[in-house]
Amino acid sequence: MDSDIVIETRNLTKVYRDFWGREKVRALKALDLQIRRGEIFGLLGPNGSGKTTTLKLILGLIFPTSGEVLVFGQDAREVSKNERIGYLPEESYLYRFLTAEETLDFYGRLFNMPAMLRRQRAAELIEEVELGWAKRRQLREYSKGMTRRIGLAQALINQPELLLLDEPTTGLDPIGTRWMKDFLLRLRDRGTTILMCSHQLEDVQDVCDRIGILHQGELKELGRVSELLKIRDRTEIQCSGLTPEAEREVCATIERLGGKVHFCGNPTTTLEELFVRIIRESEAHPGRRVRGLAEAEAAPPAQAALASAGQQPRPTAPVESSSGFGVGGGDGPADREAAGGGGGSSAGGGQMPPADPAHPDRSTSAAPPRNLEGDSGR
Ligand SMILES: Nc1ncnc2c1ncn2[C@@H]1O[C@H](COP(=O)(O)OP(=O)(O)OP(=O)(O)O)[C@@H](O)[C@H]1O
Ligand SMILES: [Mg+2]
Repeated sequence: MDSDIVIETRNLTKVYRDFWGREKVRALKALDLQIRRGEIFGLLGPNGSGKTTTLKLILGLIFPTSGEVLVFGQDAREVSKNERIGYLPEESYLYRFLTAEETLDFYGRLFNMPAMLRRQRAAELIEEVELGWAKRRQLREYSKGMTRRIGLAQALINQPELLLLDEPTTGLDPIGTRWMKDFLLRLRDRGTTILMCSHQLEDVQDVCDRIGILHQGELKELGRVSELLKIRDRTEIQCSGLTPEAEREVCATIERLGGKVHFCGNPTTTLEELFVRIIRESEAHPGRRVRGLAEAEAAPPAQAALASAGQQPRPTAPVESSSGFGVGGGDGPADREAAGGGGGSSAGGGQMPPADPAHPDRSTSAAPPRNLEGDSGR
């Protein structure tokens, strides 16, 4: 096995049986997957699609019906490999009457860590997950978000090379979610390989390098997030400093060259960005009311011009004063390729849904970039 491949599943199948040995559920069907060192891989899928089953098979908590799982090149049934793995289950399993310090000490003991190291590591982790202020409180007094944080600290007690996270952002508010995502990205940058299961599509999109989509135990799609989400028959140009006249001229030039301008105006930020900014502003200036900037802003002239030309403008949001141009070369079919060598279905590809004239704000055409400063490079 290539040393850069941390997890490999081959034809992995899991059938749950009833007491009489009769087949109850075929939870996983011939899964072929490779997770590479240093990546964040997201396993997505609806409820009951086999995500948790996959994690349990990787940990060796349950055994395959057929096929195999290799972790660090070893059979997953080899429990000694779990010393190199951290695991955050989807349900809280922590002892409610222990404090954060005692919890981490307990898990440190399970890894046979010496007392000095346990104390040092627990103190570091409690600071890293920002629970220093609550470290002597019993976990039964913790909120959901605090419980998720101490759960993550527990998963990191052994400085794992591989981290398995089942729904890591469940129960977290947007600030906690952002914190978790930034934390995972930092871990990845330090060399930890991460496999996470989630329903929170935005979170997966923000942190994962590659994803796999499971449905009814079958892998339906596999590839790099940036490739899978690319809309191939559209071109987006972002610029700033244009006057309304210059914007109109740019639009006219695009039309003259045979292109079609689908949108010209200010790009929108995400609700997460807005929420986090407002809460941070509120923390910095307690008591100050955050003004509704969106209401205060008038529609910019370029949008008005487009609207009068019969095109669908999108609503503006209180973001930066740059212009976003969504430019298409016509209505040709999207030539999306399945990246990463797997899957091959056409889910999620480049077709644009039509704009709804009754609800211009529901138009999903020329989806705005999530990061207004450009690609994060992932
Ligand atoms: N111990 C079990 N015995 C019988 N069936 C099980 C068992 N565990 C899981 N299943 C079944 O296997 C299928 C996959 O379950 P799994 O927990 O892996 O799904 P999941 O993708 O993690 O779902 P969720 O998003 O709800 O967490 C489901 O149909 C579930 O009912
Ligand atoms: Mg699950």
